[in-house]
Amino acid sequence: ARLHAPQPVGHDHGRTAPAVAVRPDVSEFSVPMPLPPVLAPVVSRRDVQIYRLAIKPANVSILPGVLTPAYTYGGSFIGPTIRAKAGRRVIVSYQNQLGVSTNVHLHGAHVAASSDGYPMDLIEPGGTRIYDYPNRQQGATLWYHDHSHHTEAEHVFRGLHGFYLIEDEEEADLRLPSGAYDVPIMIRDAAFDAEGKLAFSFDPSTRTTLLVNGKPQPYFRVAARKYRFRLLNSASERVLQLNLGGAEMVQIASDGGLLPAPVPRTELVLASAERVELVVDFSRYPVGSHVVLSDGSTPLLRFDVVRSAPDNSRVPDRLRPLPALPKATVYREVSLGFDFTSGDLPIGVMNGRPFDHNRVDFRIKRGTTEIWNITNADPEFVTHTFHMHLEQFRVLERNGGAPTLDDAGRKDTVFIPVGGSVKIQTTFTDYLGKYVYHCHFLDHSSLGMMAQMEIVR
Ligand code: C2O
Ligand code: CU
Repeated sequence: ARLHAPQPVGHDHGRTAPAVAVRPDVSEFSVPMPLPPVLAPVVSRRDVQIYRLAIKPANVSILPGVLTPAYTYGGSFIGPTIRAKAGRRVIVSYQNQLGVSTNVHLHGAHVAASSDGYPMDLIEPGGTRIYDYPNRQQGATLWYHDHSHHTEAEHVFRGLHGFYLIEDEEEADLRLPSGAYDVPIMIRDAAFDAEGKLAFSFDPSTRTTLLVNGKPQPYFRVAARKYRFRLLNSASERVLQLNLGGAEMVQIASDGGLLPAPVPRTELVLASAERVELVVDFSRYPVGSHVVLSDGSTPLLRFDVVRSAPDNSRVPDRLRPLPALPKATVYREVSLGFDFTSGDLPIGVMNGRPFDHNRVDFRIKRGTTEIWNITNADPEFVTHTFHMHLEQFRVLERNGGAPTLDDAGRKDTVFIPVGGSVKIQTTFTDYLGKYVYHCHFLDHSSLGMMAQMEIVR
């Protein structure tokens, strides 16, 4: 098996897939887009909410008329959404009924190392584990997923992914579209065999079916008013170029929450694990219109404007200021790449070495503000992303120049294209312990493209 790597932006179509992958014969926009269920807490108090969630195999409906065996949170192919409030603790008790080891990482969360889903810190089959999330961070679209070392790509591909939304009060005061008009949308790809079973491999070119909230090219009925969409790219290894056919989408947030001000966009790049929040105003369209969200020229989702509706939501000119950047005192270099000399599958490396949980790559003194320069060390066609656990960061520079609109705000994941480099800054504020950083093309991290830092006193 040759690992091939990811498509350069804009050229991902027309690859020939190996015989195992079958493009299911589904006509466009023939199924409705479901919303992931919202998980109900078993205990809800002012200071804490407690949830229970089984991680288990289930037969789920992805393609019309076929049941597909998947790994799920609570039986649902897109795990149930956990809705948390800033400042109110959430405790989730996970029961591993999968039959294989797993664990849970809350992507974008600021949590103690023991609740971070460290790759070696697993829930064994039959085991239960409690994760403690303080939610001492501002409102943001987070997501939870498997992070078991070497198997995260396969486990997430098989369905271990869900939304975790933090809401905060100041954000609620802005009167952005809310309730039924605040919609999480998870975009990923998949590969199926002839029986409709998920066909995993480390080759992303086999994943020719795009799923939106777990369905192939669905439609979604909307009212002619404003909606807030929380978009997540949960594909193992894909770069989406999202557009509404040239129509305006107003970006209000990125990975770590609200931007300082809304930004009108007509196209945006969303790499694996990144999130973007958009407000789309369907009152621009007469009832009966169709508006298509596409990845480049590939349609993903059709919005059908089916009715009018009152709308007292708004998008204020100012959302949330970004704090001033403190002065950095430590500078580090990080490179991502593959060692192609090793034979069958290449080995993912960071600064020349694959992940080793016995080695600490960077020792960081708590309280330090650091700048990391992250470089794609691979030739030609291999792109990467960079994700850091524990802290959100800010992008200072891309390729030695100004960051792009896709780098704006608080970020935890950035795209590192061919020949690219990104300079980021963050402050390690409080927690101590070991946390990983890695390429969030999970095919790459599963092959070793991961390293760890230890925050020390
Ligand atoms: Cu979303 Cu270390 O992962
Ligand atoms: Cu990579």
